[in-house]
Amino acid sequence: MAERFEALVLHQEDGRTVARLESLPVDALPEGEVLVEVLCSTLNYKDALAITGAGKIVRSFPFVPGIDLAGRVVASSDPRFRPSELVFSTGWGVGERHWGGLARLARLKADWLQRLPEGLTPRRAMAIGTAGFTAMLCVVALEEQGVRPGDGEVLVTGAVGGVGSVAVMLLARAGFTVVAATGRPGLEERLKELGASAVVDRREVAESGKGPLASARWAGAVDTVGGPVLAGLLKAVRYRGVVAACGNAGGAELHTTVFPFILRGVRLIGIESSVTPMPEREAAWARLARDLDPARLDALTSVIELADVPAIAPRFLEGKVEGRIVVRVDPTA
Ligand SMILES: NC(=O)c1ccc[n+]([C@@H]2O[C@H](COP(=O)([O-])OP(=O)(O)OC[C@H]3O[C@@H](n4cnc5c(N)ncnc54)[C@H](OP(=O)(O)O)[C@@H]3O)[C@@H](O)[C@H]2O)c1
Repeated sequence: MAERFEALVLHQEDGRTVARLESLPVDALPEGEVLVEVLCSTLNYKDALAITGAGKIVRSFPFVPGIDLAGRVVASSDPRFRPSELVFSTGWGVGERHWGGLARLARLKADWLQRLPEGLTPRRAMAIGTAGFTAMLCVVALEEQGVRPGDGEVLVTGAVGGVGSVAVMLLARAGFTVVAATGRPGLEERLKELGASAVVDRREVAESGKGPLASARWAGAVDTVGGPVLAGLLKAVRYRGVVAACGNAGGAELHTTVFPFILRGVRLIGIESSVTPMPEREAAWARLARDLDPARLDALTSVIELADVPAIAPRFLEGKVEGRIVVRVDPTA
């Protein structure tokens, strides 16, 4: 094996985060039981916050970002994994506190790795990535709280983004009537191809009247946006409807009243993907592998190279990303 590997490395220079491609010695990698040759990684909103320094995601530098990775085991001191097996990892603080997937090599704890589910290639697993996994957890949360396909319309906010696009696909596949909320109504056809039956402008959702409640419309919602959009949609959730909230792309504050909760019995469920226990992960990934149409998944995925990452990451913060971004770390993957 080569003694050095290529990585995207974050540095702190004059109070700014700077990202550069560098060659690092293998022994610079952090501790862990499994050495993985990374084939693909992804870009998620959190990666963009880390790479641009816009969010306090990374606290020690130099640092290799990338919260998701898929690759091949090179060596493992843990009996659960053997050389040449295909594995992947999402979350667990990788790419935040532990060096991540935007590098040709990664060394991780065995507890953070999963074998690729049947039917998924490394590239498709990364097309799903943390975003798709989180979308799946949101759908499972709605179902566990009793929302059923016949109950009425289910809203997905930030629908053109990574979590939102996959949530639209998964909900439509499960038989729900999906309404996509977006700030880019020009992409209506694309959202309908993913399975949305209607598209609404996110401003309509945010500005749903001055009172504490609006006319009841949504049987459920997957919210990736937070802020005024979440506050607005809560006013229009039907009696005993459920909202799975996972994101803050539109704001971290939530100005609301207790009335949706105490007059309509609305349930607001928080979703956190990164430390989800392994049995729930495995169930979610088996369903993702089974339910997502590979052609549609490919259609919503752009593939970029490691060297493109610093230029592409800021687009997340401008709300300009469409669907998912896979980073082909190994140019042959
Ligand atoms: N809880 C968790 O475990 C977890 C896991 C993954 C992601 N997340 C969070 O989920 C969110 C989405 O992540 P992602 O990777 O899907 O990001 P993304 O691809 O950038 O999608 C975010 C979408 O939000 C909408 N948006 C952006 N800026 C907005 C604004 N100022 N106001 C209202 N809407 C705005 C846009 O959708 P439209 O163009 O359709 O309007 C955008 O496509 C992020 O906040 C991320 O941190 C949380």
